[in-house]
Amino acid sequence: PTEGASATIHGDRPGPTYDRRIFTQFAEHLGNGIYGGLWVGQNSKIPNTRGFRNDVVGALKGLNVPVVRWPGGCFADEYHWREGIGARAKRPVKINTHWGGVTEPNTVGTHEFFDLTELLGAEAYVAGNVGNGTPREMAEWVEYMTAPAGSLADERAKNGRKAPWNVPYFGVGNELWGCGGNMRAEFAADETRRYATFIKAPAGTRILKIAAGANVDDYKWTETMIAQAAGQVDALSLHYYTIPGGWPPRASAIDFDEAGWAETLFEANRIDELITKHSAIMDKYDPNKRVWLAVDEWGTWYAGDPGTNPGFLRQQNTLRDALVAAIHLNIFAKHADRVKMTAIAQMVNVLQAMVLTDGAKMVLTPTYHVFAMYKPYMDGTVLPIEVNSRWYAKDKWSMPAVSASAVRGKDGVVRVALANLDPNQPATVTTTLAGVTATTATGQILTAPAITSLNSFEAPQTVRPVAFTGASVANGTLNVTLPPKAVVMLELR
Ligand code: AHR
Repeated sequence: PTEGASATIHGDRPGPTYDRRIFTQFAEHLGNGIYGGLWVGQNSKIPNTRGFRNDVVGALKGLNVPVVRWPGGCFADEYHWREGIGARAKRPVKINTHWGGVTEPNTVGTHEFFDLTELLGAEAYVAGNVGNGTPREMAEWVEYMTAPAGSLADERAKNGRKAPWNVPYFGVGNELWGCGGNMRAEFAADETRRYATFIKAPAGTRILKIAAGANVDDYKWTETMIAQAAGQVDALSLHYYTIPGGWPPRASAIDFDEAGWAETLFEANRIDELITKHSAIMDKYDPNKRVWLAVDEWGTWYAGDPGTNPGFLRQQNTLRDALVAAIHLNIFAKHADRVKMTAIAQMVNVLQAMVLTDGAKMVLTPTYHVFAMYKPYMDGTVLPIEVNSRWYAKDKWSMPAVSASAVRGKDGVVRVALANLDPNQPATVTTTLAGVTATTATGQILTAPAITSLNSFEAPQTVRPVAFTGASVANGTLNVTLPPKAVVMLELR
């Protein structure tokens, strides 16, 4: 059947802001996420600016990355900031015990990270070390970064940066239930209160503190943290990875059949239920929604690409990943009252990345293109959209075929994102426009010949957005025919 869905967009009932920080990126000291992917050093033949490669930075600038989370991840709870300042040649070389057991040269430290954020025009989200650090070490790092005066500010100036940096977001550890210290929720809540007490912003500035939140459906964790530690923080995180085949990740990123497609998209849709249930718990303790939910790790996690270090989490990215990204970005719209920040994992060369590199080569992934298509959502107003969709099923996996969201951009233009999850059938979507005046619908489509289509270094343009002509508006109704396995972003004018 081609009839896919009927929908109504409520321009007459504008919702919350689709926060630009939903497009936050995550850069961990993991595999080639930093070294090789972002940082090549000033003496590299790869064109760079003060060590950061120009091609990757240029590509990321195209996404208007709002915030970068660094240095981890699991790496954060073993990171000692003093090892990453001062003369680069003198910094200690450590072992990255979490990720591949390789050497960590500490070449990219605090100064280099802030240089990267400045190159990208992004804000900093620094994750502190609760796991094997101390409150004093954390407090001194914050002071080093932000103090206008004092001996730590002098040291910062001696190391090349006189003016304090802005640290708008600070993570109080990461995954304290796991790599951050294997804590029980009650202990983690107490540790969060204690560490957060000593994260102090200089007069006239603010540091929003993000507590290490739950893994997937650990609702007890959320309940304990929001009940016990909310007073000391501004946000609670949630980590949810789409892992077809379950943990540990074992499915191939590129070699899958329709069942693998369906399972992955089904698992991606689970983020809706997870946010709904975690938010309901937060609502009990924080009905005014002061504390945000920051889904600061999400995305696909497959077995590493053949021949790569399994600890590097290097995976290719196909049209399937593009659909996973669109599903998440649509679901975040539904929860934008509580979800003010999310971070896909990760920005470069790790898990569901925006760009992949190999030496001097770089390619934009299908996921990159989805982020580019959704970019005008940043800080727009969510418009409620009701969708009544036909279901798509394969084996034991079934889900609505059409995923959608709508946002009135800051430019006043209403945009509608529609994804057809069915890889076989087109879907016609008939949408009633309530309180939206429009006569035309133009936009872009991202699709490809196969569910496994990808962008390689040899063929980098296989999956890329092109103009879409399958939409029209007549008498207050938007009519769209979505090809199978496609993401469409429309502008109504
Ligand atoms: O993104 C990879 C890892 O996944 C992060 O370091 C950790 O927080 C999570 O378990």
